[in-house]
Amino acid sequence: MTLRRKLPITRHQLLAGIASASLLVVASCGSGSKSTSSTTKAPSTPASTSSTTVPVASMDELAATPPMGWNSWNQVRCYDLNEDVVKSAADAIVRHGLDKLGYSYVVVDDCWQEPERAEDGSLQPNKERFPSGLKSLADYVHDKGLKFGLYLSPGSETCAMQWDEYPGTGLGSFGHERQDAEMLRDIGVDYLKYDWCAADETDGLVPQEAFAHMRDELERLERPIVYSISEYGKHQPWTWAPGIAHMWRTTSDIAPSWGSISHIINSQAEHYKYSGPGAWNDPDMLQVGNGELTDDEVRAHIGMWAMLAAPLMIGTDLDKVSPSVLEALSNPDVIAVDQDPLGQQARRVSLDNGAQVWVRELEGGDLAVALLNSTDAETKIATTLEELDAESGPWKIRDLWTQSDEEPIGAEMTEPSDSVISRKVPPHAMVMLRLSR
Ligand code: GAL
Repeated sequence: MTLRRKLPITRHQLLAGIASASLLVVASCGSGSKSTSSTTKAPSTPASTSSTTVPVASMDELAATPPMGWNSWNQVRCYDLNEDVVKSAADAIVRHGLDKLGYSYVVVDDCWQEPERAEDGSLQPNKERFPSGLKSLADYVHDKGLKFGLYLSPGSETCAMQWDEYPGTGLGSFGHERQDAEMLRDIGVDYLKYDWCAADETDGLVPQEAFAHMRDELERLERPIVYSISEYGKHQPWTWAPGIAHMWRTTSDIAPSWGSISHIINSQAEHYKYSGPGAWNDPDMLQVGNGELTDDEVRAHIGMWAMLAAPLMIGTDLDKVSPSVLEALSNPDVIAVDQDPLGQQARRVSLDNGAQVWVRELEGGDLAVALLNSTDAETKIATTLEELDAESGPWKIRDLWTQSDEEPIGAEMTEPSDSVISRKVPPHAMVMLRLSR
């Protein structure tokens, strides 16, 4: 993998500047201070002269848009994980045509390991769950035209050892970073989820250092690997993770409930300043298809993740998924917003007792607009071109969930009402619009 190639473009230089600056202060640590910038772009930290230590160019190339795929955790969590579940997910992705829409990574989360490392220190796949081994599983996934991902932790314990009583010792990568990275290469891994799991408490690690350490090990490999890190947003990773990883969790774990989804959405409003191509805020994986989510909640979950330029990792059983959930996951207009090449995450322009308006700038001057009702009652939500920072019209409007074109607005701008967008939005639902000239 050639990680130090051409110079990144301006926006990326900004991101690299943040990363380089934070790498430089790693020694003093605690660089979690949040930028006070009020602009819509990444804050302009001066580019560091040590930027050659940051693999920004190739990171951008590898995750130029937010990664999409499937991950085992939200579907089977720890104890029901096995190779058949993973193969079935890969089969279903292809059978449903989700691969053609961009869902390409099949990621094995925690609980894949034998309880002990082998004598040579190497991690081993759990023999009962993965009798054919991980190389064979990766080959199976690759043969489907998909990519393969795996879970590791920087400390000495994985999270399932801490929270799910998964038996084992030393299953984290602490002290085995190079060996574990080389294992990823040998298996044919394309995506690493590197999950913190209180490594500060168990091993005295510092997040920036531990995540950069594994980044450096991945960089040594002659293999492009998407690098997804997670410390649950505790140390404000958006301020230091660009340039270290392709994506970083911004929240604690998502649950399959509207309360959890809505809480996460509310916590993301300020993060738009920090993400962009090759460096994505990750508000955690999708829960659609799980729990008791209504169809409106499912669409609001996926639609807001698309507004947030979030990675879209499915975590449900695609053999049992309902037609409405499958349809929502497959909406090409919504996916196009998520995958928009500009990579500009949405910002919230109004919040009134749970009635929210978000806007995302898209390549070519289009705008994605979300009218989100997180309350328990139908609510009329309105915005204006002025509030959206949109020039005068006319603007064509497409409703992305109904996939229908609506009356253009802003043609005359003679009446104030000509610039108003107003919809009745059901409880726990969103209207998602694309405005174009
Ligand atoms: C959590 C993580 C989950 C899952 C789990 C595995 O910390 O947030 O997404 O990976 O660990 O044990």
